[in-house]
Amino acid sequence: MPIETIFDTMEYGTAPEDRSVALQWIANHGGLIGPYVNGAFAPARDDLAIRNPATGEKLAGMTLCTKDEVTEAVQSARAAQPDWQKAGGAARARVLYALARLMQKHARLLAVMESLDNGKPIRESRDIDIPLAIRHFYHHAGHAQLMPSALSDRVALGVCGQIIPWNFPLLMLAWKIAPALAMGNTVVLKPAEYTPMTAMIFADICSQAGVPPGVVNIVTGDGSTGAALVDATVDKIAFTGSTSVGRQIQEATAGSGKSLTLELGGKSPYIVFDDADIDSAVEGLVDAIWFNQGQVCCAGSRLLIHEAIADDFHNRLKARMDKLRIGDPLDKSIDVGAIVDPIQLQQIQALVQANTAGQTYHAQTPVPEGCFYPPTLITGLHPADTLMQEEIFGPVLVSTTFRTPAEAVEIANNSKYGLAATLWTENINLALEIAPKLVAGVVWVNATNLFDAAAGFGGTRESGFGREGGWEGLQAYSKPRQPLPEPAQVTPFTGQGAAADDIDRTAKLFIGGKQARPDGGYSQAIFGPKGQLLGHAPIANRKDIRNAVQAQLACGWGKTTGHLRAQILYYLAENLAAQTNRFAERLDAMT
Ligand code: NAI
Ligand code: MG
Repeated sequence: MPIETIFDTMEYGTAPEDRSVALQWIANHGGLIGPYVNGAFAPARDDLAIRNPATGEKLAGMTLCTKDEVTEAVQSARAAQPDWQKAGGAARARVLYALARLMQKHARLLAVMESLDNGKPIRESRDIDIPLAIRHFYHHAGHAQLMPSALSDRVALGVCGQIIPWNFPLLMLAWKIAPALAMGNTVVLKPAEYTPMTAMIFADICSQAGVPPGVVNIVTGDGSTGAALVDATVDKIAFTGSTSVGRQIQEATAGSGKSLTLELGGKSPYIVFDDADIDSAVEGLVDAIWFNQGQVCCAGSRLLIHEAIADDFHNRLKARMDKLRIGDPLDKSIDVGAIVDPIQLQQIQALVQANTAGQTYHAQTPVPEGCFYPPTLITGLHPADTLMQEEIFGPVLVSTTFRTPAEAVEIANNSKYGLAATLWTENINLALEIAPKLVAGVVWVNATNLFDAAAGFGGTRESGFGREGGWEGLQAYSKPRQPLPEPAQVTPFTGQGAAADDIDRTAKLFIGGKQARPDGGYSQAIFGPKGQLLGHAPIANRKDIRNAVQAQLACGWGKTTGHLRAQILYYLAENLAAQTNRFAERLDAMT
């Protein structure tokens, strides 16, 4: 039904937030947005329409920045970097505090704009996105202040290229820009093409906060602008978005010397044991999967429910789903807003429709026409089903059952991702036993979606690497102060003592502390640069790799004490040193 009439059918009234403040801001900027470079907005073009997904209306026209415009922004960041670093921690802290304070003063404008541009409920942008973004700037102002004393051994990387997604536009901007600036870097940031608006307000705020020209640059555009930024002469790329683009960026930066952090997708398990506080677990799940329409990298999108309570839990969940209110994101009384763009909606629909396993339940609540999708639960799936494995990135929860804690862990870890995990139990011993076994960057116990600027966040496996927030996050925006010592001079190989003669020609792998023949029995000849045969090396196959991974998992290295590991590393170093000449000869013969 049309969005204008949907509320007539409901038993509650509307509480719309006034949007004029945001529309006025856009009008003041001539209805066009574009690059912010060297402390000022450059002339903008109407290359792409920026829309409000709830209504389809055009909010503004956006410039698709070209390679040259990206280069200009990078040059501006490069020129500003030495002075920004030299200014020192206290001076940078003052600017970061000013940014935080001004964002607070413009909090309503930012929240309204975020909901208009992204389609997320105003309740979320007002109470979560914007306050957390502000908190990141306050927190990192503190880190800038502390840097000379607490991180005196570290310095800035230089110029950071930052590419962010559309699900938390201003919050992702804060996660990227605040730590970078605190450590003395300058940045070129590219917001997502669906949601560039709050980044433009932030640019405005930079000018008011006394951010020196060139320290923060923002280029608007799509994937091609992002790719140009990856190719530009930056010292680091920080990316949050899809795993496929993350993979492209990793390939593009490999061997370039650019630092890289990737925060990618997930299919995070939400595990409920039979002794859990069920109503709390249901409420937590509502937040885990229907917060921001499920468009959350760490969404608890995979429900693993103990078999004994599955029916009861699903019934209570469905009753709660039916009460969720979907509607105008600017209405303060709605729970679920619009999907960010019709393209994302189509992806969600296609994934759900292609699913033939399991039973699909859509919330029995009126859904407006347009870019909306009802809260959905799919039960009776098996762990290997596509919908259990693939990220849907929408308001769709999938569910499967388990019987024992060990089985819960196994199903939870049966994923290519490893971003977050949630578990519910009233048994603290069980929680402490299970949590460390879950392959995830963050594990929440009897709660979900807990974030703070002081707590590092990030993933493992195909969810990416690197941490954002807290002390860990600062590592990704700084490097050791001293240049690494020059490598020790090795006496060049003189040609004496023919290398090939003392090489063990037996083809063996080294797995689990033992020499092992390759499973397939294959080996390859190794020749020196002059074509002389040096020996044979085994060729490992899948099985050998599996054995090696299993040996690694079983070895218990991580549980040894730091002291023991230090002893072993010293021992290795001593033995390597004793055989320096043998290694040098072999390297020389091979190269
Ligand atoms: P995307 O990964 O294409 O977009 C993220 C950002 O990367 C945007 O700013 C985009 O302009 C930029 N980008 C795109 N191609 C690029 C390239 N070749 N080089 C450099 N930058 C590039 O994500 P998209 O297409 O908007 O969403 C597709 C799927 O990605 C979603 O359905 C969801 O599964 C996942 N996703 C995950 C997010 C997360 O927070 N982990 C956020 C957004 C999307
Ligand atoms: Mg938009």
